[in-house]
Amino acid sequence: MYQNNPETFPKHFLWGGATAANQIEGAWNIDGKQLSDSGCIKGAGTGSIADTLDNATRQSLQEAIDDPSADNYPKRRGVDFYHHYQEDIKLIAKMGAKAFRISIAWSRIFPHGDEAQPNQAGLDFYRRVFQTMHEYGIEPVVTISHYEMPVGLTMKYNGWASRQAIDDFLRYAKTIIDAYHSQVKYWLTFNEINTGLTGFHETGATEEDLTTEDEKLQRRFQALHHQFVASSLATKYLHEVDPTCRMGCMLAKAITYPATPNPKDALAAQQENQLTLFFTDVQVRGEYPNYMNRYFADHNIHIKMATDDQMIIKKYPVDFISISYYHSDVTAAKEGQTGFASNCEHVHNDYLEETPWKWSIDPDGLRMSLNELWDRYQKPIFIVENGMGTTDKVGADGVVHDPYRIAYFRSHIKATKEAIKDGVSVIGYLVWAPIDMVSNSTSQMSKRYGLIYIDLHDDGSGTMKRTPKDSYYWFQRVIKSNGQELD
Ligand code: BG6
Repeated sequence: MYQNNPETFPKHFLWGGATAANQIEGAWNIDGKQLSDSGCIKGAGTGSIADTLDNATRQSLQEAIDDPSADNYPKRRGVDFYHHYQEDIKLIAKMGAKAFRISIAWSRIFPHGDEAQPNQAGLDFYRRVFQTMHEYGIEPVVTISHYEMPVGLTMKYNGWASRQAIDDFLRYAKTIIDAYHSQVKYWLTFNEINTGLTGFHETGATEEDLTTEDEKLQRRFQALHHQFVASSLATKYLHEVDPTCRMGCMLAKAITYPATPNPKDALAAQQENQLTLFFTDVQVRGEYPNYMNRYFADHNIHIKMATDDQMIIKKYPVDFISISYYHSDVTAAKEGQTGFASNCEHVHNDYLEETPWKWSIDPDGLRMSLNELWDRYQKPIFIVENGMGTTDKVGADGVVHDPYRIAYFRSHIKATKEAIKDGVSVIGYLVWAPIDMVSNSTSQMSKRYGLIYIDLHDDGSGTMKRTPKDSYYWFQRVIKSNGQELD
């Protein structure tokens, strides 16, 4: 039976903002916390993920563990949310946020990852954070693992490359589910799980002992398989403990276009898109899709599975899909190369503007992504990250005037509205980020995403003072009007 699609955002739409512990908390060695992988990554300057996060080795990690200062490791410092959380949540509440996404630092709860008992001071911290959110009527959204695991587990058994990580993760996940299920209804297992395709920063497994690309892929897919099983078992536990809670997967959604109408380019783009959708195929449909058999064969990948793994993945899929969306990509087939998804290279999109960090700005790509995911799965979609990382200048009046950021958000919120009119079920939109923070990929403060400026700089100087930018007041109006006032 035909019915009209909604014209606009639903009544209880979850507007708000998102963050991650390793980028905001600081207090890396306080109240029992020990180092996580992310606290062992040096600042990259203007570099990229490949130069930093994914090239960690046991030696670089050991050097980091032996270094007692935060000077070279910006994520140890964060933006000191640990001591500013009340002020930050108050400001986020004044912006009108209905939801606020944080992650829990695993190494604050199980400092080395293998303790039998959790760290009470860590548990108390997040309880206070959730309590503060509820005092302001804000719904917490929690990522269980956002680009970090206790570095102790990387050193002990090479992170997610080892099946042992499933047990240690579950002890941690069950502990926090037990502790917070009455305060937290929306949970996500692994942030941007598909970035595990590039290695260490998502899998916590170093690769310096491997030489070929296929050997590295073997390790990554084995680690990801362990995460799929762990995610399903955490979902099972959450539902057993509290059927009112909802578990989501989290996908870095970047749509890939073919460089030309040449079918070879179209095929390359399709395969790249499949490599992203593989993750939701497993976590939502509960099955490894057939096209990956082809990929695994082409790359000589053999995933070791325990007898029940496929049953577990099938039986406990996620309840909803969450995505980050920042940009789109373009791919061209490479002459003479064959093999699934190794036969292409990214090229520039001349139709799109870019941020200073060369991320394309493509709101239509968001609309298409939402339609694609809805058509494929018919599961509610939660946009849990969208934003623009760029430099900001504080004006003579002490305020950042950021029309570029407003324009970015406006176009993406309009695209979301169009997708809702297309019939897609979108349940929320969280900006990355309500506050400035250390960049994930470059560890810079100068790559700013926040609607609230934080006076902290790449060299660690600054007062940490929080000041709303123009975009903060603009987003306040958007939320107040439930997405009607976008100008
Ligand atoms: C997402 C991550 O990839 O993008 C965040 O989930 C990250 O952790 C955000 O901060 C923006 O990326 P970056 O590298 O510019 O900070």
